[in-house]
Amino acid sequence: MPKVFPSGSIAEVPGRAPGDRPGYRWPRRGAPLGPFGPEEERVDRGRLVVASNRLPLALDRDAKGQWQVTPAAGGLVTALQPAMRRRGGVWLGWAGAPGVTATDLRQALEGCSTSSPCDLEPVKMSEEDLDLYYRGFSNEVLWPFFHGLEDHCRPSSGYLDRYRVVNRRFAKMIASTSGTEDFIWVHDYHLLLVARELRALGIRNRIAFFLHTPFPTPERLLRAPWHREILEALGHFDLIGFQSPDDQEKFRTAIDRLGPGKAPNRGSRTGVFPISIDFEAFDSTARSRSVAARAESVRSVAGSAALILGVDRLDYTKGLPHKLRGFRRALREHPELRRNIVLEQLVVPSRDTIGAYQDTKAEIEALVEAINEEWGSADWLPVRYHYGRWSRRELLARYRAADIALVTPLNDGMNLVAKEYCAANGGEGVLILSCHAGAAVELGDVPLLVDPTNEQAVSRAILAAFRMPYGERFKRMAAAREMLRAWDVHRWVAEFLEEGARTR
Ligand code: ADP
Ligand code: F6P
Repeated sequence: MPKVFPSGSIAEVPGRAPGDRPGYRWPRRGAPLGPFGPEEERVDRGRLVVASNRLPLALDRDAKGQWQVTPAAGGLVTALQPAMRRRGGVWLGWAGAPGVTATDLRQALEGCSTSSPCDLEPVKMSEEDLDLYYRGFSNEVLWPFFHGLEDHCRPSSGYLDRYRVVNRRFAKMIASTSGTEDFIWVHDYHLLLVARELRALGIRNRIAFFLHTPFPTPERLLRAPWHREILEALGHFDLIGFQSPDDQEKFRTAIDRLGPGKAPNRGSRTGVFPISIDFEAFDSTARSRSVAARAESVRSVAGSAALILGVDRLDYTKGLPHKLRGFRRALREHPELRRNIVLEQLVVPSRDTIGAYQDTKAEIEALVEAINEEWGSADWLPVRYHYGRWSRRELLARYRAADIALVTPLNDGMNLVAKEYCAANGGEGVLILSCHAGAAVELGDVPLLVDPTNEQAVSRAILAAFRMPYGERFKRMAAAREMLRAWDVHRWVAEFLEEGARTR
């Protein structure tokens, strides 16, 4: 039986913490995972209705006013897209530009080569919604708050009200799109109030939620003026999934501290479901002839130097200045690294209308310039910086070519780049990973773990990775790949849906 908490309202899913994964350090809870069988079929009687702030495609008007379609960037899309392609269903979300309607989306898709993974339903968003709900409450309040970086919180009047309005709009769209047998799966911090709104509309379906970000500590959360509304609204979901046991525990504690009878009483369950990637797709495409050829030419640009790769969305949570300072320190402290390492860093544009993101970009670019000025020469550029996007082929070629991946978030729900590197590199690459990323918990002893706020630790890890013998590199990478192959995104979805089918 699931454990019932003192409030009598939130139960923990037994046996869902994947304690039997390699690298997990805490004891397994409850029974081992069962086979995926009848429980999952119960979900399959209806459709899967997914809602996230963003659709996997983003529309933008070109100079002639025609819609252009680009793939959306980010972990949520990378993970859900292959799963929805395989499973089918409906995906509701914002199409990346203000005012996009279903007709716009249909026409844009007809005229381009990009295929959608499943039925897509755009949720219309005005400039003002984007300003107050998306940029405002979601990304200037909840995002920094949930990552424990409150210094970046910029609350403002009108944010929460518009957040409620847009959550209600999502609920109405979901209600009008869903049949009674459908399983509704809501994603991430933008949509915390959706189940409450769906229940108010009389929707009785199973409704589940997955939080892609970390969960804040109860001490801090309970000081936020909006904490009660959010915790109570979450209680309307039948199942709430977290990336790690730590996040689940923080949520449970916050609910307990609301006090007896204060928590919602629908009998929600919580579970731990660390998100993953489509391992086979990354592995097989990275081995293709076209990617291999591109990887060769990427490698030849680095010459005999070891290629260190960084791929991050522009975000202050990603620890990009910390990474660069650690790299600079490595060059200052370890002469053997000079001229023998190159850091190739891609920064993917994101949320660039927010001041803190613009400041982070300026800080990164100033550091890149300073490092290249201090150490660069006519035939050696220590940091090769790109601000923009790479195609999937370019990204995979970099993963394959890189001797080392340097992933240094200050706090991250999971970090799929770390997993993708292991899946696509395939050989003797070394992963240096922040101990504050969810992926660090899962990958255990495979990466060289660092605290990115400790410059010297980053510098030492770079030296250790550079010196690591091939046998050890290979052994570590093989262990990561074995784990990722077994725990891929399709299994993540299957387990979540299986658990969702058990609710009520
Ligand atoms: P987050 O979700 O915070 O951005 P993750 O590391 O979990 O962080 O996920 C980033 C995702 O963005 C990865 O799956 C990565 O492959 C993807 N990505 C990186 N560059 C691009 C790009 N140019 N286009 C699309 N996706 C990209
Ligand atoms: O959880 C992180 C996240 O919000 C994901 O939804 C998405 O992968 C990424 O950040 C991209 O952010 P945005 O949609 O704001 O560009």
